[in-house]
Amino acid sequence: MSKVVIMDHPLIKHKISLMRDENTGTKDFRVLAEEIAMLMGYEALRDLPTELVPVKSPVAESMQPMIWGKKLAVVPILRAGLGMVNGILALVPTAKVGHIGLYRDEVTHEPHEYYCKLPEHIDERLVILPDPMLATGGSAIQAVDFIKAKGCKNIKFMCIIAAPEGLEALKEAHPDIDIYVGNLDDHLNEDAYIVPGLGDAGDRIFGTK
Ligand code: PRP
Ligand code: URA
Repeated sequence: MSKVVIMDHPLIKHKISLMRDENTGTKDFRVLAEEIAMLMGYEALRDLPTELVPVKSPVAESMQPMIWGKKLAVVPILRAGLGMVNGILALVPTAKVGHIGLYRDEVTHEPHEYYCKLPEHIDERLVILPDPMLATGGSAIQAVDFIKAKGCKNIKFMCIIAAPEGLEALKEAHPDIDIYVGNLDDHLNEDAYIVPGLGDAGDRIFGTK
């Protein structure tokens, strides 16, 4: 059964408010996206499985917990998801990184895939799928469809801001994945932008507008 976690930490809320501000420039926006991804990643990874292994300290040998299993994979949805990768890698520097390229058609708002490269043995890994914005949900649903078609079963989607419409759509399409949301906003406008949102996350991260 899917788990939906809406963050309530004041540090995350504060940083999201700074990201929303139209006066926040590219450099600060990027730093904030990374910081929020790290704070959210800490929450999303709290159920990582561990195994007991022997560790010899200067005083004695004992059995101690270490992360178990294959290294996890971070698979950002391009472009904007790239802005969250370093925050997650700060927590798990050995994670593998894949990429799924999707863009939303400006008129139909339908997602289109243009790139995909995934780490080996992706079906055996926990896959973290970051994208700052969950608007209609179309991009996230397609990305999860794609990852599942490769055999992945353990998937966590992570976004900074979600619209209720997108969250419902993603839950309905993929009831078996965990979803982590920095803030649940009010609604989508007629251009399928999140209100109040923060504008176009990709453009703000990369300074393309
Ligand atoms: C944005 C965002 C999501 C998508 C969300 O990407 O980063 O991927 O829109 O919208 P949806 O839930 O309605 O699908 P965009 O398509 O603008 O591409 P970009 O990251 O390259 O800017
Ligand atoms: N994509 C964005 O970057 N922002 C929105 O508000 C909706 C989709």
